[in-house]
Amino acid sequence: MHRVTLIPGDGIGPEVTSAARAVVEASGADVAFEPVLAGQEAEKASGTPLPPAVFESIARTKVALKGPTYTPFGGNYRVRVERPNAQGNLEQRSYPSLAITLRKELGLFVNLRPIKNYPNVPSRYDKVDLVIFRENSEDLYIGNERMVDENTAEGIKRITRVASERVARFAFDYMRKVGRKKITVGHKANVMKMTDGLWLKSAQDVAQAYPDIALDQRVVDALCMELVMKPETFDGLLLTNLYGDIISDLAAGLVGGLGVAPGANIGPDCAMFEAVHGTAPDIAGKDIANPTAMILSAVLMLRHLEESQAADRIEAALTAVLAEKRVITRDLGGNAGTRAFTQAIVEKLKSN
Ligand code: NAI
Repeated sequence: MHRVTLIPGDGIGPEVTSAARAVVEASGADVAFEPVLAGQEAEKASGTPLPPAVFESIARTKVALKGPTYTPFGGNYRVRVERPNAQGNLEQRSYPSLAITLRKELGLFVNLRPIKNYPNVPSRYDKVDLVIFRENSEDLYIGNERMVDENTAEGIKRITRVASERVARFAFDYMRKVGRKKITVGHKANVMKMTDGLWLKSAQDVAQAYPDIALDQRVVDALCMELVMKPETFDGLLLTNLYGDIISDLAAGLVGGLGVAPGANIGPDCAMFEAVHGTAPDIAGKDIANPTAMILSAVLMLRHLEESQAADRIEAALTAVLAEKRVITRDLGGNAGTRAFTQAIVEKLKSN
């Protein structure tokens, strides 16, 4: 049996994670969930949004399914943790958000985001099928910013060969495993010659060992235009942390929005699966959130656990419910609630 840490999170998190849990449990996958609190509820209960119990659970299970967690905009909010450093001594560290804290502390170096069209999910396109590999550990997101004076702020963009090659190797291995053929690396090496230059060179060096997969490259602004004009021509996208963050949302928009975009954060030791969307405070607690992105994140989790039969069954049941168009959530033009939509998928799983 696979044990999985379940982090309900904030806002719509508890609604969409309980939907994903119900669907996984109905799929016949050999999975037992271990719920732990993180985020605002945890902060209320224990004074910290990320109590040690979260790390203890993931250290045991190696796999987490995480709902979105709230981060205030602006200000100097930091999530603080006390954890062992490389020498085994306790050290205080802090990060700009809870999701970033987990990704960094757990060494989850790649954020994997498959983007494809599903039936009856309204979109301007109909043949999009690509995978985004976003470097998850460095770039401008290391949080090394400072106020030079009252009116000037600056931040460090950090790119290392180790991290760039690691995510590139992951991307090439993944593409090979799933039978995909072309990776496009996004960069701005014409302007940021050192940082993005090193990023591009690292991808080109890694590509040498994968003659069966083509490596293409695009300046990131031109890449955005092409993605919007002909998204069906892309297969794999390899992106730095900031470009990957922005383009993941753009790509979610190509296939019908945040309600249907899943994600995985993977490291050498453990993995965490979460939707691209946030806590959606505007619709939280109203039973109207679309749980598709979280359910598809659970599908990615099941594939990671090599429960591919259960993963296929869930994807087929979800696709069938969408195709029938009887029970559809509001963001996709229907009027079904989160629970009714989930129930329709569970029933489909039981009847097949
Ligand atoms: P958001 O993704 O929460 O919401 C953007 C818009 O999309 C809203 O109109 C929302 O109602 C809609 N939406 C999102 N998910 C949906 C779903 N499943 N079904 C239907 N509609 C959905 O982004 P926003 O407003 O920028 O962020 C809100 C909070 O979430 C912030 O505190 C942010 O820091 C946090 N956040 C957390 C993430 C994580 O934990 N991984 C990722 C992104 C944001």
